[in-house]
Amino acid sequence: MPLLKPSPTPTISELPGIVPGSSGLDLNYLTEAGQRLVPYAIGAGSLLVAWAVAGAILARKAPHTWWSLYGFWFLRLRMTRSWQRLCLNAGLSTAHRSAPAANFRYVIALPRLTRVRPRRNGATAMIYFGAGQKPTAFIEAADAMAHAWRVHAVRVVASGRGRVKLTILNDDPLTSIPDNINISLRRAGASEAPTVDDLAATIGTREDGERWAINLLSFPHWLITGATQSGKSTLINAAVAQWATRPIALVGIDCKGGMELGPHTPRLSALATDRHQAADLLQRLVREAVDRMNLCRDHRQRNIWQLPHDLRPVPIIVIVDELAELYLVASRDEKEAAQKATTNLLRLAQLGAALGIHLVLAGQRVGSDFGTGVTALRAQLGGRICLAVNDKETAVMTLGDLYPDAVEAAQLISSAEKGVAITTAASQGWIRARSMNFPPDALDGAIEATAHLTPHLPVLDSALL
Ligand SMILES: Nc1ncnc2c1ncn2[C@@H]1O[C@H](COP(=O)(O)OP(=O)(O)O)[C@@H](O)[C@H]1O
Ligand SMILES: [Mg+2]
Repeated sequence: MPLLKPSPTPTISELPGIVPGSSGLDLNYLTEAGQRLVPYAIGAGSLLVAWAVAGAILARKAPHTWWSLYGFWFLRLRMTRSWQRLCLNAGLSTAHRSAPAANFRYVIALPRLTRVRPRRNGATAMIYFGAGQKPTAFIEAADAMAHAWRVHAVRVVASGRGRVKLTILNDDPLTSIPDNINISLRRAGASEAPTVDDLAATIGTREDGERWAINLLSFPHWLITGATQSGKSTLINAAVAQWATRPIALVGIDCKGGMELGPHTPRLSALATDRHQAADLLQRLVREAVDRMNLCRDHRQRNIWQLPHDLRPVPIIVIVDELAELYLVASRDEKEAAQKATTNLLRLAQLGAALGIHLVLAGQRVGSDFGTGVTALRAQLGGRICLAVNDKETAVMTLGDLYPDAVEAAQLISSAEKGVAITTAASQGWIRARSMNFPPDALDGAIEATAHLTPHLPVLDSALL
């Protein structure tokens, strides 16, 4: 029987780090290893300290750089780490059946959170969701996302089939009033032909840090609502001060006797101060629209911007302050004038966009008591601005048909937040924004400097001024 030779097992004294004959560890040996590590530890430590110090300096001196180099990456980490829990708790996960079918199980599938990119004051991201899900689920979960990621707000908008786009905002940039624009009189005095660039006027800052503009090219007509003292006149004035410097005709309708638009008078091509004047003025503008339509047809063009420079008529911006004054009347005689005015207003809205006739309609409230005409008019007004309003109906009338989820956001604007509004935004759908506080004397200055540029519109001759 062969002898089993036991395999040599090392004795304890043969193991590295153990000193033969002694009962403890060789401290010298470990210290030596430690000593070798010390420079690395110091190096890593100093790098970490340098990184933290650089971060602190950047955060103070260059917050935008700090955000893209530091803050954003922490946000991204929070987003990735919380995504699974967030989806499960907010009901954003889906189930799908795993193979093989004979022994099927349902597996939880998460929507894909991707394309997380830093941007000023926040980030953007995309969510691709699964079959059976709708964008509304994500829009409703926006608040849960903001809490989970510890940011000020998350805006979710549908962005094509099967996906939603997120705009993540770190803090509320609208607590401070945006700087006033420097109105350049660059174009003043120039007899250049109008261009489409003339149609946009900056009026403040949007929540995502972009400038907030009333752009008549993106939305030819605008509806602006807000309670008294919410900031309607201020933002209209800021826009007017810019349009005034360009080859644009401004026309005012202010049936409160011209109180609101009075200061604009020197730069207005016409101002109507009661319902009868308004009805007459709007009728003349419809006539102008028809003339322009014929002009475009004669030249086989679809809008005035395609006409040759020398034939292109100036754009006309019709500003109506206090829409209710046109719609709500008591006496029978007034009723007729109001009917005529509102019919022509609707006609202008329908025809005007391609013909360079634009409407900017402002009012404290819009309601169903204005009659059915107002809903038809509203459908033509793609640009919406809802400042702080007193009643839910006005918020619903201003935003509800286009963006039902914006109504609640509009109602959250307090009367103390002057100039803060929910506004239409071409790519995001809707967004919060704040107008600059454009003071009346700045308007007066701009009007005085540009009064001589007021275009003469023959169709308004023998009219109301
Ligand atoms: N963006 C803003 N930031 C700060 N204050 C503002 C802003 N817009 C308006 N205001 C202030 O609010 C007040 C009312 O504004 P106004 O435009 O006259 O309101 P409305 O025309 O809606 O009655 C004004 O005193 C104005 O200075
Ligand atoms: Mg006002």
